[in-house]
Amino acid sequence: MPPASCSTKIHVLPDDVVSRIAAGEVVERPAAVVKELLENSLDAGGLHITIDVRDGGLSLIRVTDDGEGISRADLPRAFDRHATSKLRSDRDLASVTTMGFRGEALPSIASVSHVLVTTATRQDTVGAQLTLVAGAASAIVDAPAVSGTRIEVSNLFFNQPARKKFLKTITTEFSHISHVVQLAGLAWPSVHFRLTHNGQEILNYPAVASDRDRILQVYRPAFLDRTVEVRGRIAGLSIRGVMVDPVHARSSRMPQELFVNRRPIRNATVFHAVMEGYGSFLPKGSHPTFVLFLDIEPDRLDVNVHPTKKEVRFAETESLHQLVRQSVRHALGGSERRAVLGLTPAGLSQTAPVFSPTAVGQTASLRDSHSAALISGRTQDSRVNTSDAAPLSGIVEGSQLVFAHEPTGAYQRAEKPDIVPFGQILRTYLVAQVGEELQVIDQHTAHERILFQRLWRGWQSRDIPSQPLLIPEPIELSVAHSALLLKRLDELEKLGLLIEPFGTTAVAICGVPVGLGKVDATALVQDLLDDLTEWDSVSSLEMKVQPVLASLACHGAVRAGRALALLEIQQLIHDWVQEGLIMTCPHGRRTAFRLSTDELAKLFGRVGWA
Ligand SMILES: Nc1ncnc2c1ncn2[C@@H]1O[C@H](COP(=O)(O)OP(=O)(O)OP(=O)(O)O)[C@@H](O)[C@H]1O
Ligand SMILES: [Mg+2]
Repeated sequence: MPPASCSTKIHVLPDDVVSRIAAGEVVERPAAVVKELLENSLDAGGLHITIDVRDGGLSLIRVTDDGEGISRADLPRAFDRHATSKLRSDRDLASVTTMGFRGEALPSIASVSHVLVTTATRQDTVGAQLTLVAGAASAIVDAPAVSGTRIEVSNLFFNQPARKKFLKTITTEFSHISHVVQLAGLAWPSVHFRLTHNGQEILNYPAVASDRDRILQVYRPAFLDRTVEVRGRIAGLSIRGVMVDPVHARSSRMPQELFVNRRPIRNATVFHAVMEGYGSFLPKGSHPTFVLFLDIEPDRLDVNVHPTKKEVRFAETESLHQLVRQSVRHALGGSERRAVLGLTPAGLSQTAPVFSPTAVGQTASLRDSHSAALISGRTQDSRVNTSDAAPLSGIVEGSQLVFAHEPTGAYQRAEKPDIVPFGQILRTYLVAQVGEELQVIDQHTAHERILFQRLWRGWQSRDIPSQPLLIPEPIELSVAHSALLLKRLDELEKLGLLIEPFGTTAVAICGVPVGLGKVDATALVQDLLDDLTEWDSVSSLEMKVQPVLASLACHGAVRAGRALALLEIQQLIHDWVQEGLIMTCPHGRRTAFRLSTDELAKLFGRVGWA
């Protein structure tokens, strides 16, 4: 046992060291100072907020607001640790409605910089000014009674050379600051934000009435043009915003902004739900971009989990995941249907209809109950509209284009548009009038999408029947590839794909899902190997299966260059319409190009003419 005197190794740190350690968590870089000051201005009800920055925030950060101000008596207290006007008790912490709640930001900032605060409340006839150096305050002096608060932070990290050394270039630090201002702008459209750098105006967002208008100010109009609207609600939780239309998805991940009760947040659950919502709609190698706002009852949220409040914890992650995923999926389906029906997008106005995820869930399960039939063609639905499907059977038989005989009634919607097929261009593109639009459709990608949707439903209901291939063709593989494939035979069988070993390292495809056309077995196996190589790195079963089904759909779809009869064209377009006119194939290529009546009228200068 060591002698008692050794216990003096442990001692309590001096206050200034404690402050700086705590500040290290809150104030990681100049942008963090801007974030905290902005949040204070917003909590104070500021409607005009100006942020002036010099040298990436290292020389100066000045935030001026017209909020409620700080009374002279409260002013020194604002810089005391754990001093706040926003919380009173532990109970308040369970349902925080303000951006701030810990009473840590101002003391943290002040401990690593020089601060000058000038403030006045609306009742004050004389304002107050306080200077602090490394947290040490001078006496309060009088200032003009301009209601609101101005906080100037200069010489940031002057007493923390190590922290200063780790900062990036002025340009990088400033870009973090402007991102912080953009985020605040997106979350608070009714507030006017202005940002200057070294005297030059960089951002200016006058107050606007809607999220959509603010998104327009923050991003170029081209961004909004490429998005679809997301909207959904369940009890105590709602989502709204915009996300990229898959046709326009690119490799860029910007923006991917999520706000929870106006806080910019990173959250793996929501991100995962967005990805699952997109599912196969998203081209390989491209990423979703979005600006999404979640509103949730404050008592279902723990905001006190991250030093810079970049994360929150949700009480019910499952319902959140479901809402986000279904809202995203609904938005993807809705955008195409709206367009063909000639309806204008609702916009992000207050009056836009609220989507009920329950309703969508019901639709999905109704579809699922038919899924086996959609693949195998066994069910005869009493609501089948045979007038569309009947003439095709004779044509399809014996042709390469073997469609699953599908009960169209399963999808029937009141708004089903009429289809008038005109023919084929270059044996690749189908031309038709669909509803009131002219559609030019890529026969391969559209058919690929149809097959994929059917396979997907079949997989979800655990029923993808196979059709045997008459002459299985052996395919020679490397040892590693044949081992990779043979390891997955059972899983592939569940996807309707029957593969058998053939000698030591060769395999043969003996069966493919019903409904696929003539398949090039060697090319299919090559793609399957690519898909299977990625299986070990993917955790979700859906994410594993989708690429395989996409490969099957691709190889089973009618190729470009094949002549189609008018009835086949009619059937293909009909099936594509029934699947919801999805504008991408599962690999993300475009399925169609359309011109609305409005666009045609504009093209021919008919607007305003009889
Ligand atoms: N711009 C402002 N206008 C009016 N009051 C302010 C302003 N900035 C700060 N205050 C007052 O100073 C207090 C301390 O601010 P500080 O940012 O340190 O803590 P907080 O916002 O309460 O919590 P958090 O540390 O989570 O941000 C606030 O509670 C608020 O009463
Ligand atoms: Mg604060």
